[in-house]
Order: sequence, then structure tokens, then C-alpha cells
Amino acid sequence: MKTSGGSDAAKRRAGESAAETVADGEVVGLGTGSTAAHAIRRLGDRVGSGLDIRGVATSFASRELAADCGIPLLDLDEAAGPDAPGIDVAIDGADQVAVGGGEDDGPTAGPLIKGGGAAHAREKLVDAAADRFLVVADPSKETPVLDRPVPVEVLPAGRTAVAEAVRATGGEPALRRAERKDGPVVTDNGNLVLDCAFGAIDDPGALATTLATTPGVVEHGVFVDLADEVHVGTETGVRVAR
Ligand code: 5RP
Repeated sequence: MKTSGGSDAAKRRAGESAAETVADGEVVGLGTGSTAAHAIRRLGDRVGSGLDIRGVATSFASRELAADCGIPLLDLDEAAGPDAPGIDVAIDGADQVAVGGGEDDGPTAGPLIKGGGAAHAREKLVDAAADRFLVVADPSKETPVLDRPVPVEVLPAGRTAVAEAVRATGGEPALRRAERKDGPVVTDNGNLVLDCAFGAIDDPGALATTLATTPGVVEHGVFVDLADEVHVGTETGVRVAR
């Protein structure tokens, strides 16, 4: 599973903090990435000690890890249908988290950029379906204003058309390439990823709407109004923004 950004100790504190909030009987969305992996491992430890949960994976990688950790799994279709149990809580990482608020209110959980692991389409399905969505991050992910390139999953046949549409809105798209292979990254859904730089994103909601309504876009990595809590692991503890 990929790792990125801050220290592994901070990521572990964040992941474990969120995993400790999970209660017996819950259905848990299992995010993707190195920080979410710490939450999955902690949940696996708790299952080993008798916690009764079922997980819904957001990627092939998180499914494999959860299975290795002994977490019973459901498909999203099994969890989210009309007579299904639903998803009580999702725990997932982020590439960037807008954390606002002042000293009086405490920090507040704002919009996110996700998709560094190219899993944002399934992540958004699971995270949006959950009653509670807990983001796990280290301090390197926090920012007042989102400004990282936005991962956009595109149908292979729509790659050039979407790139043109992104340029027309002032963005600069780059096809994501596999690190150790001579070719593009292919998502779990068989699609490609354009990382689209827009500079500072002053209105994430407007950008989310623009991208979502562009033909050929399968899903984009701007997550607006979804996070209920952000667990930020530090070198000494955990801060929680709500
Ligand atoms: C995958 C994601 C990840 O959650 C995000 O990239 C954070 O990863 P990490 O915890 O390894 O820094 O969105 O699509």
C-alpha cells in the first residue's frame, strides 16, 4: 500500500484514534492509503479481541489488507441496498484537508482532496454512504485553502476530451503514470487518472460541480460536505476537528 507525506507515527495515531471510535455491531467503510491502513490494522486487532464488525472496502488494496487482518467483509451493494444494514462509519485518509475555525470555535472539518491512491471513486461511494465519515491524516495534509492537483478518474476514451475541458476552466491536467511501469495508472475500475492543477481552490463546491458535470469524468477527488471529523495525528497525540 502506498505511503506519502508525514511521519508514520503520526499516521498511526490518527488511524488508531478513529478505529477506537468503532462500536460493536457496526458496518465500517475501510479507506485506502497508508493512514487508513493503520485504522484497518487496529480494527483487525479489535476483531481478534472479540469486536463484531463487518467492513466495506474502498479498493482492492484495502480489501486485501482487511482480509489479512481477519475483518469480515461485505460488498457495497450488500451494505447499501434497501433492506441492507447501511454503513455506520467510514474511516479514510486524504491528500489535503481544509481545516478552518479559530480558537473560540475549535478547528472545523472542511472539504478534502482525495485520490492519491486512485481509489477516490469507490472511496466517495463508501464515505458518502456512511452515517459518520472520519478522515485520518497527519499535519502535512492540513491547509487553510485546498491547492493540490485534483485527481480526476476518466473513461479511457474520454481522456483527451476531459483534459481539454479542464484546460478550458483554467486547470492543467497531467495523465498519472505508474511509478515503476512504462504506462499510465489504471484504476480498480479500469479507468485513467488526470491530476488537474487549479492552483488555490477558493470555491471547492463550484469546482466539484464543474468536474462532476464534465462528460467522461467518472469521479473526481474533491470531497465537499462529507467529513464529520478529522483525526489529525501529531508526534505526541491526536487533534480532532469537527
Ligand atoms: C486514496 C486516497 C488516500 O486516502 C490518500 O491518498 C491519502 O493517502 P495516505 O494516507 O497514504 O497519505 O485518497 O485514493
